[in-house]
Amino acid sequence: MSTFPTSRTEIAGVSVAELARRFDTPVFVYDAAVIARRLTDLVAFDHVRYAQKACSNLAILDLLRRQGALVDAVSAFEMRRALAAGYQIDGCPPPIVYTADIFDAESLDLCVDRSIHVNCGSTDMIEQFGGRAAGREITLRINPGFGHGHNRKTNTGGKQSKHGIWHEQLADCLELAARHRLIVSGLHMHIGSGADLEHLREVCSAMERVAMEVGDSVHSISTGGGLPVPYREGDDRVDLNAYYMLWDDTRKRLESQFGHPVRLETEPGRYLVAESGFLIAEIRAVKRQADNVFYLLDAGFNNLARPIIYGAYHPMSIVPSDGDMNRPEQDVIVGGPLCESGDIFTQEEGGYVVTRRLPEAAVGEFLVVECAGAYGFVMGSNYNSRPLAAEVLIHDGRAHLIRARETFEDLIRGEVIPECST
Ligand SMILES: Cc1ncc(COP(=O)(O)O)c(C=O)c1O
Repeated sequence: MSTFPTSRTEIAGVSVAELARRFDTPVFVYDAAVIARRLTDLVAFDHVRYAQKACSNLAILDLLRRQGALVDAVSAFEMRRALAAGYQIDGCPPPIVYTADIFDAESLDLCVDRSIHVNCGSTDMIEQFGGRAAGREITLRINPGFGHGHNRKTNTGGKQSKHGIWHEQLADCLELAARHRLIVSGLHMHIGSGADLEHLREVCSAMERVAMEVGDSVHSISTGGGLPVPYREGDDRVDLNAYYMLWDDTRKRLESQFGHPVRLETEPGRYLVAESGFLIAEIRAVKRQADNVFYLLDAGFNNLARPIIYGAYHPMSIVPSDGDMNRPEQDVIVGGPLCESGDIFTQEEGGYVVTRRLPEAAVGEFLVVECAGAYGFVMGSNYNSRPLAAEVLIHDGRAHLIRARETFEDLIRGEVIPECST
């Protein structure tokens, strides 16, 4: 069962006040040891492929690469990030896989010209890739007809989802692939982000049915991602052993049917990085109106969008400047600096503002939004012309800047005032 403190003075052994002084706020801080621990949790799988969309800083990719993780990319620039972080192209299993439902011109060129393995989520991808890369191996991402996520917006299966090849169209896809002499060597299913074990379990049987239909060209199956992490006090950790055993049984049945080994990959994003990340912000105003108390921070949904998009819950803690870890607590609403009513960290799905019990705090003190490593920085924006935050990685007790805070010059780079005739 998870416990989250409501006061803290350190992150990974480094003083929060010191981090804020050195790197300014708002700043994302990641604990490398947590990422390593989460990767080790998954060691039973043959391969862990990191879904970098969760947190794609080069230093995080490099860290995971050095610890043996493969990588998933969903855009041309994610492929280029993987290459920039030192991932190779050749290898079995392929170090980089491009998973998507479309190719844009640049992603198709990269996959064709640099021989990056492709996980096709639409018949058009098969057609477009096959037209230029006949003879190559591909993976098919199948939508098994159901999905599940922590929120409707993170459900990636079922008939209303745009993701993957609809399971009933498999035969047509195999015919299309064969026409282009593409070899379907892998199968992949990802039903959503933050799914529960009950739904994840159903994916195994769906995978088995699909793999039997494809036949013995299949040498690898991927569970997709979706593993949940504890965000709330009392949340249990997912039973990874039970999860692995289910998939391993499926894999073994396929191996005995096909008469050759079948690699088992898992593809988490959130699970590897969520708990490693902390967003440090400074409290810039404490407002009292009617019976509400607001802590207003210098970080908003331009930095961490999960609350406004999903009504997502993040643990929070106060950094008491006097070191008093036993301050009285009060119900507060935590908000950001943006000129937008929805800029509230304590909200539920649908935009309902709720309160959080936090220690009393004053302007100039820091507040840490926790479990912010996945879908945190990467979903940031420049709304209200606010620069993207800095990112810092703590490794063996030392804090390293891994992304400089944007400057005003970064912000307006590329903007042009045209010469207009008056
Ligand atoms: C294809 C694919 N794989 C893996 C993931 C990672 O999901 P999660 O971060 O929930 O593990 C995603 C995200 O939704 C995805 O779209």
